[in-house]
Amino acid sequence: MSNPIDQNLQEQLQKLQQKYAAMGQDLSSYLDGLLYSDYLTYWDYIHLDTLLSLQTPKTHFKDEKVFIVYHQITELYFNLALWEIEQIVEHENLTEKFFCERLDRIISYFRHLVGSFGVMVDGMDRDQFLKFRMSLLPASGFQSGQYRMIEICSTDLIHLVNTDDREKMKGTTEVSDLLEKLYWRSGATELATGKKTLTLKQFEEKYIDDFKKLSEKHRDKNLRQIYLKQFAGSLEVVRRLREFDELANVRWPLSHMKSAAKYLQKDPEDIKATGGTNWQKYLPPRFQRIFFYPELWNEQEKKEWGKAGLMG
Ligand code: HEM
Repeated sequence: MSNPIDQNLQEQLQKLQQKYAAMGQDLSSYLDGLLYSDYLTYWDYIHLDTLLSLQTPKTHFKDEKVFIVYHQITELYFNLALWEIEQIVEHENLTEKFFCERLDRIISYFRHLVGSFGVMVDGMDRDQFLKFRMSLLPASGFQSGQYRMIEICSTDLIHLVNTDDREKMKGTTEVSDLLEKLYWRSGATELATGKKTLTLKQFEEKYIDDFKKLSEKHRDKNLRQIYLKQFAGSLEVVRRLREFDELANVRWPLSHMKSAAKYLQKDPEDIKATGGTNWQKYLPPRFQRIFFYPELWNEQEKKEWGKAGLMG
């Protein structure tokens, strides 16, 4: 009787042979390849050297590295959130369990981001920041395409329209008309003249076509639509969507705003470091009033949305 390991190996070989034969491939040649190939290492697998070569400060100020790395960390988390959303949206037999598990992951990414924002707020020397920030103009985190993509996949465009136009655009179905009025299109404008900054113009030019395609793709299949069509009223789903809404539209914006307040608020001269934008009126969530899931909040909660803001 052959020993159990040999038998196991034999079965594995047989399965491998079937797998390769199905594609018209010769297993034996692949086994030769295996014989000569190197063992995988941690650093190769995660491309560590490449990863650590992606920080290229524009100035000699040491804290600029903190600024770059933390933005990169944030973009990686945004990317994971989009990855989870895509799995929900693409799922052919979506169950409540799967929906909730993926929402939990998204929530956990945003909790990490909110919890770690102190790296920005307390982690850089203010004088260094105000100097190196000038060398980065007109670039800004405002130009994060992934941040906008998360918004587009999470709700219907109408809920991302600026507060002044939201009510009157309720019946509008044309994606281009809604895109025109998204709340962020009046952010990053010049405080003095109300004109769009180069930051905003660059951003629109690079991404607006992508945002249009993404909005069309998700018009009937975004997280809000999935909730309404498949899980309306489910307490498990509601709890998670509420937390996600609050994290994305109040808690992250407030943590982020703390950094703007710390570095930019005190001296009017410092306003230059943003290119002189309307950020104090634009950033507070109590002014933006973005709710991905307005039906999940009562009137009182909506009234108090983002009230814990710094601007009083
Ligand atoms: C010291 C740190 C930071 C400061 C002082 C700061 C400042 C600002 C300001 C002033 C704006 C408004 C746009 C403008 O007027 O130019 C803005 C927008 C934005 N920033 Fe930052 N930021 C910081 C860190 C970050 C980080 C780490 C991220 C991560 C990607 C980020 C992402 C964004 C996003 C997504 C917006 C647009 C927000 C919205 O439309 O509501 N920021 N930031």
